[in-house]
Amino acid sequence: MKGARNQRNIRRKQVLVSTTDGGPWWRSAVIYQVYPRSFADGNGDGVGDIGGIRAHLGHLRDLGVDAIWMSPWYPSPMADAGYDVADFRDIDPVFGSLTEAETLIEEAHAAGIRMIVDIVPNHISSEHPWFKAALADPDAPERELFWFRPGRGENGDEMPTDWRGEFDGTTWTRTADGQWYLHLFAPEQPDLNWDHPKVREEFESILRFWFDRGVDGIRIDSAALLLKDPSLPEVMADTPHPFHDLDGVHDVYRAWRRVSDSYDGDRALIGEVWMPEVERFANYLRPDELHAAFNFDLLGCAWDPVLMRESIDRTLHAHAAVGAPATWVLSNHDVTRHVTRYGREDTTFSFDNNLDGTPVDLELGTRRARAAALLSLSLPGATYIYQGDELGLWENEAIPEDQRQDPMWARRGHGREGCRVPLPWSGDESPFGFSTVTPWLPQPADWKGLTAQAQSGDPSSMLSLYRSAIALRRAEPGLHEPAMAWIDLHPEVLAYCRGAAFACVVNMSGASVALPDHESLLLASGPLDGDRIPPDTAVWLRMR
Ligand code: BGC
Repeated sequence: MKGARNQRNIRRKQVLVSTTDGGPWWRSAVIYQVYPRSFADGNGDGVGDIGGIRAHLGHLRDLGVDAIWMSPWYPSPMADAGYDVADFRDIDPVFGSLTEAETLIEEAHAAGIRMIVDIVPNHISSEHPWFKAALADPDAPERELFWFRPGRGENGDEMPTDWRGEFDGTTWTRTADGQWYLHLFAPEQPDLNWDHPKVREEFESILRFWFDRGVDGIRIDSAALLLKDPSLPEVMADTPHPFHDLDGVHDVYRAWRRVSDSYDGDRALIGEVWMPEVERFANYLRPDELHAAFNFDLLGCAWDPVLMRESIDRTLHAHAAVGAPATWVLSNHDVTRHVTRYGREDTTFSFDNNLDGTPVDLELGTRRARAAALLSLSLPGATYIYQGDELGLWENEAIPEDQRQDPMWARRGHGREGCRVPLPWSGDESPFGFSTVTPWLPQPADWKGLTAQAQSGDPSSMLSLYRSAIALRRAEPGLHEPAMAWIDLHPEVLAYCRGAAFACVVNMSGASVALPDHESLLLASGPLDGDRIPPDTAVWLRMR
């Protein structure tokens, strides 16, 4: 059945238009991240699925987003919540079927929303047929598709290297026959050997599989990690890194670009690549490589005018060097929700600095998150919204230990479940319209004021703020200007203009500041104090 469907000629013509007057959509899009387990449950099993997404497409259309980025929805044992993919050409039954995914792509397009799928090329699931074959027989040719190596020490019982993994655990696991295999993430995520032509062919074919089904873009997970130095040196300062940003990775993306260019429409390759060294970063965005890169600099930054300005400058500078659009992200499925971050004394985010359980002022965090929405939606480039940002959701820090499944929990003591809690859609109590049964993670009872239904008719809600801001982003000519320039109003105020006609002012000081001279107030993140902007409040102004 599946094979027959794959062979059908289903190359779809892209009919969507650019989102603003200048340039292709991916340069200025508002992209909404759907984390499918937690968006909406259509079949009543307590876990989100494609049926739930289809039922709530109207929410995304009314919000005004240009594209959906779908976190992995492929068959997976879920050792890392779907980032351990067992088959890139199908859908996990918990989410639905390939036919439903195809229908969703069509329905999203009909609603004017583009679709981006998440491809994870650095590693696959240990349940993938390639790895199962590699594990079953030390002489299997599939071993070459991974990094199997003998151990060090007399009995080979020491790991081949001392590399530290992304989850801060070990990076090698020993198999029954005595060899070790490399996994930069969890042991259930063996790293692929990108020096092998079969790996390259397979992923080019996977890209075609999804482009044939009409998707508009590919988000590339951990894009700079693919290549490894086969001599396996240790990580040392002043010597080339053995697995981060190796030169050979660019051949991979040149080949991928040839694939995306062979399709009609503006199909985009968006890499998860961030490195502050401008030249290295820029290499990924050369004209024959990726269209855009996805970065987390602003996300990790403290609520601090000087540091935020530096982060914005750093990001714009790196992208301007190659003519690529910047991308702005406040939250995602890996990090503490920003309402919570901005309500703490330490407002930074880093996996190495676990702030779970430290005091949070949610009212302050919400006020800042509202201001941050106007900041991130008015900077030049593309902006990402993580599902629930538009509802002002906070981190659920009260997840019982026995409901923690994230591999990061055991290894770092910080689990990512708190930002992955099912969305509240309607009603006064959990499951808040997410499902008809108890959701897979507990929803805070206090979310009853934050449901999409409760916020929809309330002009002062976070949802109304996001809807208004996204609509203005389309309508205001100033917000289509390619560049921004800082306005020096006050050392603790971020203020900038886009062309002559638009300005954004974010008051990060402890006292109110006067509105600058302007023609009209377009939007404010909170109540103003006469003609003054209170602390932690942002405004959008049409300028004279
Ligand atoms: C994803 C994480 C995942 C990791 C390993 C990251 O970029 O966002 O959720 O655990 O890659 O695939």
